[in-house]
Amino acid sequence: MKALVAYYSETGNTEKLARAIYEGIEAAKKEILPINGVKNVEGYDIIFCGFPIQSHSLPVKVEVFLKSIPAGQKLAFFATHGSYRGGEFAIQAFHYALSLTPKHTVLGSFGCRGRVIKSRIDALMDQAEHRAWAIEAQSANGHPNEADFEEAKVWARAMLAKAYRH
Ligand SMILES: Cc1cc2nc3c(=O)[nH]c(=O)nc-3n(C[C@H](O)[C@H](O)[C@H](O)COP(=O)(O)O)c2cc1C
Repeated sequence: MKALVAYYSETGNTEKLARAIYEGIEAAKKEILPINGVKNVEGYDIIFCGFPIQSHSLPVKVEVFLKSIPAGQKLAFFATHGSYRGGEFAIQAFHYALSLTPKHTVLGSFGCRGRVIKSRIDALMDQAEHRAWAIEAQSANGHPNEADFEEAKVWARAMLAKAYRH
């Protein structure tokens, strides 16, 4: 089993989650790389792709990366976001990621909250399109935390087991 953990992270939250996932999986070969460091997406049994949710969606670099992955690839998405887990904003972004990978096997997704710096929240409060998630994001401080990392590891092992079965 050859696994890649590819991530995009601006303030470090998603990178921390990526490292936990990488530590948590046992595979004959495993690699962890920021998406701009991935030279070749071929030859992996599973690609974990991680991103911060931005504007209810994916950062453009992540869109470009997902579109570069050949059809048939097994994928698992993970994300950090300021808004609530399982909330509408997080769900929208995962839906969008799915819409970009219609010919792939998406084995599952994991999302947890990620701290948003206060100056950022304050700036967003004045923008109508961001206000709703910025209000939710005020309680994301301290995340991702150890409990998030443990949960992500359990999830990642389940994704790997699923990839073996497929
Ligand atoms: C420009 C920008 C837009 C964001 N938009 C959203 C959003 O729509 N919904 C949300 O839940 N969080 C949003 N966030 C919060 C980030 O998803 C969250 O802080 C995440 O953990 C950052 O991950 P990173 O440290 O890996 O970059 C936004 C953050 C930034 C900087």
